[in-house]
Amino acid sequence: MPTFRVETPGHCYSAVVERGADGHVAEVLPSKRDKLFVISTEDVWRHQGGALTHGLEGVPHEVLHLPGGEEQKRLAHVETLAEQMVKRGGDRSSVVIAFGGGIVNDMAGFAAAIFMRGIPVIQVPTTLLAQVDASIGGKTGVNLECGKNLVGSFHQPLAVLIDPLLTETLPEREYRAGLWEIVKAGIIREPGLFQYLAENSAAVLARAPAAVDRILADSVRMKCEVVSGDERENDYRRILNFGHTFGHALEAETGYRRFLHGEAVAFGMRAAVWLGENTGHCSAEDCVEMLELIELYGPIPPLTGISPENLVARLVHDKKTVQGNVHFVVPERIGEVKVITGVDGKLVLEAIRFGLA
Ligand SMILES: NC(=O)c1ccc[n+]([C@@H]2O[C@H](COP(=O)([O-])OP(=O)(O)OC[C@H]3O[C@@H](n4cnc5c(N)ncnc54)[C@H](O)[C@@H]3O)[C@@H](O)[C@H]2O)c1
Ligand SMILES: [Zn+2]
Repeated sequence: MPTFRVETPGHCYSAVVERGADGHVAEVLPSKRDKLFVISTEDVWRHQGGALTHGLEGVPHEVLHLPGGEEQKRLAHVETLAEQMVKRGGDRSSVVIAFGGGIVNDMAGFAAAIFMRGIPVIQVPTTLLAQVDASIGGKTGVNLECGKNLVGSFHQPLAVLIDPLLTETLPEREYRAGLWEIVKAGIIREPGLFQYLAENSAAVLARAPAAVDRILADSVRMKCEVVSGDERENDYRRILNFGHTFGHALEAETGYRRFLHGEAVAFGMRAAVWLGENTGHCSAEDCVEMLELIELYGPIPPLTGISPENLVARLVHDKKTVQGNVHFVVPERIGEVKVITGVDGKLVLEAIRFGLA
């Protein structure tokens, strides 16, 4: 059973990748606890609730549902959830299990971060994206009318249980979108994973168990290592934003409805690879290989009717833009990226045009 450790100055916890991992959820619960709340959505619960219920046999718990969907990732629903928790006897010694995709991860994690000034949360992610990304690192939060994830908190989980079986019911489009985050892991830090993805796309796309387990383990290890090096995203953790600066602009420009996050990241990675080559940071050969790998897990849904100029304007408003200076993560070679700033606006526009083409 591959187990990876996240070790930040204030917190240490494990991310376990194992078929049936959620069957062990009772083992990671703190012995001193009062109420146990399982927080999910009706959709996730219908597909996979049975697996978690099985893991909690004999353990008293209450299941509470959040509404699903990005447009419902709002503070008001966290407040409603907290009210329900109090009504059902929740207090400072309660514990939360977040069971769902990135939406549940972020909302239930945030509820745990602020309920009674903070109670423990165990993350049990059910989408590929949440398994390799959202569940590890302690970022929680909700959207505001004017932007994504603008209210939130760092709240490291007690443990992360990653069960590849849970993603078997994931719709094809969601699965592919998650794969692009795994492609990202390969490009930024894992040349072995990159090679594996390039050579085994048929097995990966068919969700062959050995292939899924392998790419999950590599991606989860990578995220744990990066987060351990830099909990609060000041410096090293920035490499995880590869493809995201451009991708967030696309998501915002299309109202978070037209593209899934991973699809927007795929577009963003294309633009970032182009920028890497055209700022002289990466060889043409490596860039071709990266573009081919992004393509292999595609196609990206049509990117028609999107104004490159509008995307440039969005970049400047990204919350990660520090004092108006946009940071870009560009490749240097397969498995290595660099953060650059002060990029000529014309090149940025060209990179976006390339990404959209
Ligand atoms: N905290 C972080 O570090 C971090 C990192 C990346 C993304 N995120 C956030 O994650 C969110 C996106 O997450 P997501 O892509 O997982 O979306 P999601 O949570 O909306 O899940 C996608 C869809 O899949 C369904 N689903 C989930 N698990 C399923 C399963 N096992 N079987 C069948 N259907 C299932 C859901 O009901 C939903 O319709 C965004 O809000 C993003 O901001 C957070
Ligand atoms: Zn992402």
